Amino acid sequence: MRTPRIDLPVAEMPRRWYNLAADLPVPPPLGPDGKPIDPAALTAIFPENIVEQEVSTERWIEIPEEILEILLRWRPTPLRRAYALERHLGTPARIYYKDESVSPAGSHKPNTAVAQAWYNRQAGVKRLTTETGAGQWGSALSFACSQVGLGCKVFMVRISYEQKPFRKVMMQTWGGECVPSPSTETRAGRAILEQDPDSPGSLGIAISEAVEAAISDGSGETRYSLGSVLNHVLLHQTVIGLEAKRQLELAGETRPDVIVGCAGGGSNFAGLANPFVPDVMAGEPIEIVPVEPEACPTLTRAPYAYDHGDVAGMTPLLAMHSLGHTFVPPTIHAGGLRYHGMAPLVSAATAEGLMHPRAYGQLQCYEAAVTFARTEGIIPAPETSHAIAGAIDEALKAKASGEPKVILFGFSGHGLLDLKGYEAYFAGELENYPLPEEVLARSLAVLEGLPRPDRS
Ligand SMILES: Cc1ncc(COP(=O)(O)O)c(C=O)c1O
Repeated sequence: MRTPRIDLPVAEMPRRWYNLAADLPVPPPLGPDGKPIDPAALTAIFPENIVEQEVSTERWIEIPEEILEILLRWRPTPLRRAYALERHLGTPARIYYKDESVSPAGSHKPNTAVAQAWYNRQAGVKRLTTETGAGQWGSALSFACSQVGLGCKVFMVRISYEQKPFRKVMMQTWGGECVPSPSTETRAGRAILEQDPDSPGSLGIAISEAVEAAISDGSGETRYSLGSVLNHVLLHQTVIGLEAKRQLELAGETRPDVIVGCAGGGSNFAGLANPFVPDVMAGEPIEIVPVEPEACPTLTRAPYAYDHGDVAGMTPLLAMHSLGHTFVPPTIHAGGLRYHGMAPLVSAATAEGLMHPRAYGQLQCYEAAVTFARTEGIIPAPETSHAIAGAIDEALKAKASGEPKVILFGFSGHGLLDLKGYEAYFAGELENYPLPEEVLARSLAVLEGLPRPDRS
């Protein structure tokens, strides 16, 4: 019987994370003096065990049993064969998607939230602060903190806070506290509000607030947690790709021809794709495609540079594709893809020609999401719709060429709490926002004078 679902037995759940930094060196983060930062300096923000992972170049890192036990509630996640979508498109391509929407928070985010909460608790931390865009990360971290007994405070990008009120209720339900950002609670937030009282907020602003809230908490028991971008976050997400690899084998496939994922800070994309990068390095013909919104074209139009991860410049300088740390992206509905930077590992892989990014407008993405919902049945998160648009493009190319390509894409989350965006789409109220050249040029000006990564 043809089965649309390829399950991995619980006993085959990956026991180790894969660290691409072992195979692809990334230029080190720099301090304010322009010199590589001493990892010890990061311990004001993150606990030592997380800092250790952040700078690790070990290829495989063991997943602690207690983390596995929580992940096993919903993992391994299904790999699904999109027979209905294939039929609808009339493509000879075989389309598979890794369904991360089955987690308690509805996305891939709990994979790292659980690990980060656990490592923080091991280090004696009592409370975490964080930012959230679409609300997915904030709800995932609230869930994870509830599981290991930590407090959680979330600065949520104001525009998403208004568009997605129920994410806030999810955070509350799991015991997290959620405030709209920019807020009056931090110096960084107040400075933004003085300049622009109607600021829609951005991930860069919310990160500044969350980092400040962690550092300025006098108890020493609060640390900050980031939901994407950094090496340790990508590391925790590699369970996605490691499972998918094995599931493709079970489906009788030797390898995917194309891997597609949406990329905001890069974590779900890298989680799926990074375990395949060594195969690409060994000469396997696998095309790896991160997809981003044309409103926030970090990989496709911004330079590979050193830049801060936040607006206020509180984080070290990271080697990454960046639109400039003061960039406030247009208020598209894919809130989780509105970030000025990109994970250093994804940026380095792109700079090395191992990944081939693409940007799409939100109308094409919503159209893809609706097609997906009407064929495969699951309503995708607006972020996820970018991966679907990429996969559909690939399937149509395969139709034109007659090649039975194997397409694997990341289904990063469901959109059941993102229906406002769908409502606006059906009402014809949405537009594309290709970023104007002059806005891009103005935004990139903050990179002037900052060092450039050495790629020799
Ligand atoms: C469902 C979903 N997909 C993708 C993303 C983008 O983040 P990342 O690039 O880190 O996977 C988000 C971020 O909030 C999200 O909620």
